[in-house]
Amino acid sequence: MRSDRYQEYFTAENLMGPNSIRLLDELLETYPLPFAAENRVLDLGCGTGLTSLFIARETGATVYANDLWISEEANRERFAAWHMEDRLIPVHEDANCLSFEQDMFDAVISIDSYHYFAGKEGFFAERILPFLKPGGIALIAVPGMKNEYDGRSDELCSEWLTDEAYMFQSAEWWKTILGTHEDMVRVHTWEMAAFDQPWQEWFATGHDFAMNDQRFYEAMIKPYTCFVGMMVKKK
Ligand SMILES: C[S@@+](CC[C@H](N)C(=O)[O-])C[C@H]1O[C@@H](n2cnc3c(N)ncnc32)[C@H](O)[C@@H]1O
Repeated sequence: MRSDRYQEYFTAENLMGPNSIRLLDELLETYPLPFAAENRVLDLGCGTGLTSLFIARETGATVYANDLWISEEANRERFAAWHMEDRLIPVHEDANCLSFEQDMFDAVISIDSYHYFAGKEGFFAERILPFLKPGGIALIAVPGMKNEYDGRSDELCSEWLTDEAYMFQSAEWWKTILGTHEDMVRVHTWEMAAFDQPWQEWFATGHDFAMNDQRFYEAMIKPYTCFVGMMVKKK
């Protein structure tokens, strides 16, 4: 896997949850994006921008690295330290009200972030689709429930997830929520293959949040949850 080459970045400072680079690698293996520097990708909810680094290096695109909790300045400094300032553009905006130009991006990618703000019918068509060029693609990965436990995250995982349990939904649920629109020509959601490795690499960082997650791995995370992949193709 290409993500094996990024192991030096799998640290408590860069990761904000189960290893996002493993999830991204699977999305880009399934839907390759052979881009060049003039192509623009929006990394939505990029966190520390590690996913943005992988996207820029592995697709060749220029990446707009947008996040809410991490400041533009902190990401600018990190991107300079990575010598990627010419290809990674930090942006600090709320995904609910982005101010990019219409048809600006060849692709929108979002890893372990979309569930925080987009679990509402109509969100994709109203808030994301306009920024994609005709023929553009959205690739999304979120943690969620296996299809057989759809709608049961409160009952099965609230001891672990507390008031965020409602964000954990199944691939079938996300397909419904992504919805339909005349410009959404293909919508695919699925349970991803990546599971144990991204979790184990998160635990290995020793991050406080990782240590808490690890306490629930065998009893809740492993039996009931998965990562949900989503792909939307624009006409
Ligand atoms: C668990 S972190 C994942 C970060 C990164 N994508 C990764 O996988 O390493 C979730 C990210 O979602 C972002 N986020 C949550 N709500 C958001 C919103 N309304 N607009 C933009 N980003 C948001 C947060 O800022 C946070 O960095």
